This record gives sequence, C-alpha cells and structure tokens, in this order.
Amino acid sequence: MSKKILLSGIQPSGTLHIGNYFGAMKQFVDLQDKYDSHIFIADFHSLTTVQDRKTLEENILNVLLDYLAVGLDPEKVTLFKQSDVPEVTELAWIFNCITTMPYLERAVAYKDAHMKAKEVNVGLFDYPLLMAADILIQDADVVPVGQDQKQHIEYARDTAEKFNRIWGETFKIPEPLILETVAIVPGTDGRKMSKSYGNTIPLFASYEEIKKAVMGIVTDSSGGIPKNVYEIHKLFKEQGALDTLYAEKAGKYKDLKEALIEDIEAFIKPIREKRIALAENKEAVLAILKEGGQKARVKTSEKITDVRQKIGVALY
Ligand code: ADP
Ligand code: TRP
Repeated sequence: MSKKILLSGIQPSGTLHIGNYFGAMKQFVDLQDKYDSHIFIADFHSLTTVQDRKTLEENILNVLLDYLAVGLDPEKVTLFKQSDVPEVTELAWIFNCITTMPYLERAVAYKDAHMKAKEVNVGLFDYPLLMAADILIQDADVVPVGQDQKQHIEYARDTAEKFNRIWGETFKIPEPLILETVAIVPGTDGRKMSKSYGNTIPLFASYEEIKKAVMGIVTDSSGGIPKNVYEIHKLFKEQGALDTLYAEKAGKYKDLKEALIEDIEAFIKPIREKRIALAENKEAVLAILKEGGQKARVKTSEKITDVRQKIGVALY
C-alpha cells in the first residue's frame, strides 16, 4: 500500500521560534518516514506582509536552513517553495470564483488583521484560498499544523467539497493533524508565542538570547510554580524530572529559570551547529529547494490539467 500524503508549510515572514518548532516543524520531522511528505516555504503567503526584496530572499533561505537543521531529510521529503509551483496560484484563482465574500470574512485571521489595520490587502483576505490550493493540489491526506491554523484547514475542506459538487469528484478532503499537548506554545508573556507579539524564544537562539528571553518570562508571584516558566519547560524536560525539579525548587524562580536556560541550550546547541555548517554551503542548499520544486510540479501539473478539463477551459 502506498503511503498517505502529508503536506505543510511555513511562511518566511520572520525568525522561527520554538512555538513553530513544537507546534508544527517537529511533527514534520517525526512523520517524514510514515508519510509521503511535502514540506514547503509559503513565500507567496508572506508577500501579504513582507514587501522588501532583500528581506524576503533572506527569510526564504533562513526557513530552508531551519528545515534542514531540525532534521528534514530531502531524501525523504519533497522540500520546495510555493512560488516554484505556479499551478497553485492558478488553482487559487479558480477557488476565488466559487467562494463568497461573506464566507471569507468569517476567517479569524482576517478578522484579527482587519481589527488591527484599517486597510487589509486582498492577498490577506484571500489567504485561506491560496492555502486551500496548496493543500488540495497535492492531494494531501493530512496537514500537520498548530491549533491556530485549524480554521484554514476547514476552509480547504469546504472548498474541496464545493469544487467536487460543481464539477465532479476531483479533490481529496484533507485532515488536520494537531498535537493537543503542544497545540499552543505560550510565549514569554503567557500569550501564544508569536513573532507578531515579540514574545518568542528563537529556535536557533544563541546562549545569550536564550538567557535574555528566559529571564524576561513573566512570572506570577502567587504559589511556588511560575506557570509560564513551567509551561515552556515542559517542552524540554520529561514530565517526572520536571515535577521533581519544580517541587524541589518551589518559589525559587531564579533557579528554575536558570535550569530552563540550560535545558533549552542543550536542545538548541546541536541544531544551531548543524545550521551553521549548512549555511556555509548555500549553493547546495538552494539546489535542494530547486529540485524539490521540480519534483512537486509533477503532481501539480497533472492535477491542474484535470481541473482545466473539468471546468471547461481545455479545448485542445
Ligand atoms: P507566528 O504566529 O509566529 O506568525 P506562523 O503563523 O507563521 O507563526 O506559524 C507557523 C506554524 O507554526 C503554524 O503551523 C502554526 O500553527 C505554528 N505555530 C506558531 N506559533 C505557535 C505556537 N505558539 N504554538 C504552537 N504552534 C504554533
Ligand atoms: N498559513 C500557514 C501558517 O501561517 C502557512 C501555510 C500556507 C500552510 N499554506 C499552507 C500550512 C498549507 C499548511 C498547509 O503557518
């Protein structure tokens, strides 16, 4: 029996943090043997916010290095960037034509953006349909993401159903894959860790950066266990050892933070070193991405040909 298809992506819109890792990337690595995996860099999605050439180029390379350093193996995974697969944007247009405005207005991410800024670009509004195209064009069975992306997977499912209803069975209905235990990694202020909140611990932080971030974790002064420190520490220490430590050091916030710094450093050090080595060979690393794009297009060109026939634009 052939393996099920897994697909997921991350936007190159800033420095990745441990929330991205535990919420999403770790699953990509853990599942790369079990599934026929497709992992990509959502560069066209990030164009909704990153509109500086140099920054975008750097960000793309950074996410690629991050993917490889955490252990994605290009022998097992098709690693590509979205803009190398133009069939995706073509399909997104077709989805635009079968989707209503009020339906997209219900997207939480859009509502948030709309509340913060007076004027939201059309790309941001349309974001869920480009994401639906990413997923559906590859016939993905499962999509590992953090909790905050769940609604977007619903959009992909609804869009697949709608297309299939109009033009006949074409797209698979994908399932989200969300690990409940790490569904939302808290940031240093206790809110969801997010690059837009400035409350992150970068995934490839230096020792000094780890120290600064951990020392800045907001602690509530009631009770012996500082909740935010504990919740982050949980990701790096096995439950038994963690509880022993927090029982022994109850109320000693500084000691607990120092222990957390050491545990994060022990986790990051080897991947940081691997990343530095990879960065020295930029050409080879970019070649992996280029090749992955060509591989991804085998499926997407087949799929778009089928779609074009079904909707009635393929006359020859
Ligand atoms: P950010 O909120 O920092 O902008 P993204 O929206 O780019 O992060 O998320 C990329 C991936 O990482 C998504 O699958 C998302 O669900 C996951 N992710 C981001 N932040 C967290 C978090 N704090 N906890 C769990 N998963 C997260
Ligand atoms: N929206 C996702 C995020 O911000 C990135 C993304 C784009 C994605 N297309 C996707 C994730 C398809 C999974 C599948 O994290």
